[in-house]
Amino acid sequence: MNKSDEIILKADGLAKGFHFEDEKIQVLENIQLVLEVGKSISIRGNSGCGKTTLLNLLSRLESADRGTIYWGEFKIDASLPCSSNEGVRRANFLGVVYQAYYLIPELNVLENVLMASKLAGSDLKSSIERARELLDKMGVGNKEKQVPTKLSGGERQRVAIARAMINRPKLLLADEPTGNLDENTGGEVMELLLKSCDTEKTALVLVTHNPSFAQKTSESYFLEHGKLNLI
Ligand SMILES: Nc1ncnc2c1ncn2[C@@H]1O[C@H](COP(=O)(O)OP(=O)(O)OP(=O)(O)O)[C@@H](O)[C@H]1O
Ligand SMILES: [Mg+2]
Repeated sequence: MNKSDEIILKADGLAKGFHFEDEKIQVLENIQLVLEVGKSISIRGNSGCGKTTLLNLLSRLESADRGTIYWGEFKIDASLPCSSNEGVRRANFLGVVYQAYYLIPELNVLENVLMASKLAGSDLKSSIERARELLDKMGVGNKEKQVPTKLSGGERQRVAIARAMINRPKLLLADEPTGNLDENTGGEVMELLLKSCDTEKTALVLVTHNPSFAQKTSESYFLEHGKLNLI
């Protein structure tokens, strides 16, 4: 494997500002980031410093003012809107876990997880097998027929992690995944998240306010004044 094969995510010169009334708030200035296959990084920073904005740029939910993103060897001009070609690639390449879970309330647990495999165009039978395996690993295998509104927050996040992992993503982006959970439940969910990334060799970008969770990743960054600093 040569060096470029080992890089799963690279951001080069990412910048993003928002216009608010007559003012422009420059949230991200010149973000440089390199993440190797199977490695993990954490990003901490004060509320409003731009952590979610950065993840939204990396997942291509939002476009940047300028900069380049590489998903593996796939080069993306981050200033352009996400193309449909990229959308299909995204479904197979990355998974995202949010603080607020974002499960679909009308679908049961199994259907929620399968929705992600459907978007990636995967075969249904093998997807069901994999979904059940993941739900078991997450400790919610007995809840597959339940709807999300009848689950606890911790259970919902376990389902959301299974959904994020169903397509065997090379990269997982997690935005304060334990932010809505109590300390014990948050700790359990974080362990499951880190363990599944480890066993599946999925690289992880973890945004967290919790310094002890941040320490569990290969590298830790602090986002401040639009810049990422290694700590
Ligand atoms: N769509 C938008 N339009 C205008 N301003 C925005 C928009 N999205 C984010 N912002 C602003 O950008 C800044 C960064 O927001 P962001 O959500 O990235 O912060 P954060 O670091 O994730 O904060 P938290 O820790 O509270 O989640 C904030 O000042 C926010 O008000
Ligand atoms: Mg945020």
